Amino acid sequence: MRILSVASEVFPFVKTGGLADVTGALPKALREFDIATITLVPGYPALLPMAREGAPLAVFEDVLGETAHIRLFQTEEQIFLVLDIPSLYDRPGTPYLDEQGRDHADNWKRFAALSLAAAKIANGALPGWVPDLVHTHDWQTALTSVYLRSMNNQTPVVLTIHNIAFQGQFSSGIFPWLQLPMSTFSMDCLEYYGDVCFLKGGLTTSNIITTVSPTYSREIMTPKFGMGLQGVLRARANVVKGILNGTDDDIWDPAKDPYLERTFDLSTVSDRRINRLKLESESGLDSDDGPIFAAVSRLTWQKGVDMLAEVAEEIAYRGGKLIVCGRGDSAIEDLLLDTAQKLPGRMAVHIGYDERIAHLIHGGADAIVQPSRFEPCGLTQLYGLRYGNVPIVSRTGGLAETVIDANDAAMGAGVATGFQFHPVTTEGLRHAIRRAIDAYASPAQWRQLQAQGMSARFTWDRSAKLYADLYRDLVPERKRSGL
Ligand code: ADP
Ligand code: GLC
Repeated sequence: MRILSVASEVFPFVKTGGLADVTGALPKALREFDIATITLVPGYPALLPMAREGAPLAVFEDVLGETAHIRLFQTEEQIFLVLDIPSLYDRPGTPYLDEQGRDHADNWKRFAALSLAAAKIANGALPGWVPDLVHTHDWQTALTSVYLRSMNNQTPVVLTIHNIAFQGQFSSGIFPWLQLPMSTFSMDCLEYYGDVCFLKGGLTTSNIITTVSPTYSREIMTPKFGMGLQGVLRARANVVKGILNGTDDDIWDPAKDPYLERTFDLSTVSDRRINRLKLESESGLDSDDGPIFAAVSRLTWQKGVDMLAEVAEEIAYRGGKLIVCGRGDSAIEDLLLDTAQKLPGRMAVHIGYDERIAHLIHGGADAIVQPSRFEPCGLTQLYGLRYGNVPIVSRTGGLAETVIDANDAAMGAGVATGFQFHPVTTEGLRHAIRRAIDAYASPAQWRQLQAQGMSARFTWDRSAKLYADLYRDLVPERKRSGL
């Protein structure tokens, strides 16, 4: 079966969060199931040198008024189509923000163009390749199904919601520029309180809507988590499914991780101390036996890292240390930096995006903390589990279903893997941190938690099968165009 995956970021080329991990890993995992995926991505600066090596596969003359070169780029693992429109994508900043941290002013056009190009491809614009199904991810690619249906093309579309907080809502003034029929600017498509909402357009026109954990698929039907789109989702409840993300063993395996000072597995878990020493010396943390708490995170309200700043002093007072690696809202960055300044040797902050430090933290810290206010899936706790970096998480979304709380019953049954807290408040977090410090004081208990976490398996094979089954339901065998 042929799939066109359409994505605004993909690991290892362009990544701001877990979305890139998923769009980078899922196509590899799907190959096991005879599913061949090609991923369409924008021609960002990181991709252009490789993509421009050969002649373009096709030229689309009018993608929202721009000329687009469609380029093929292959790695050992994946095949990409790169949408080369320099005026839209060849610029500094992240996929979504300029160098000053503001949204690119033309994001509506950048991602509508990506969706329109995807629809053109699915509608047969590329000589020799037509997908059986299109898989879109988040608001940035959600217009694909709106474009396809307005071309009268019924190719099945699966839309995955990675985070419903981001919806792609723009003033209706952009509508005339989208090259869509007026009928799509309606309440049952992409009109949203007088604005245009890209995600709503996708939610109303895709065949299946998935989200990245079963818990989040239920949460987003409620006003608290649905962020205004709960009604739209409830109306389509029969096609909403939750499929948990997985981890990619090629990238996240402590036994062969090139970023670690010392690789290890369950039988050599005490070697983590070599990574710990490296982490401490690099970060200017005291070198003593106290537990190292860590966060690797976008620094936004969602992630609750502000609460972590509030408990930092207590962590230090109780002999622990705290290390945070992240970037995001400047107010949260400043709060963390100020807090660290007051706790020399006990708290360190790396502002920025750093793949190496992220891996070293998992290989050397003791507990990864995610006090998220909501968390569709969360990959960080899964990496923590795999690396013996015991997760401390709020009980929400994917965090709730991937970490088993170390209460007496779960410890007794030998299944506990970390600590959960609820409600999601500073006090809740503080209590969980205290429980973790107590558990850490008993090496046997801590080793048990680490071992149980490291033995939990959240690799892609299981989840990829669920996507494969879903694709097969939508594309009966007789309709497939072959591999
Ligand atoms: P989200 O997608 O909401 O940001 P996830 O937990 O699903 O959260 O995924 C976050 C991904 O981004 C993980 O792969 C994590 O290691 C990575 N990450 C987040 N912040 C940083 C950072 N500052 N440096 C390196 N990697 C980071
Ligand atoms: C989003 C979510 C995160 C999820 C990731 C990948 O960014 O915030 O919870 O793991 O997407 O699906």
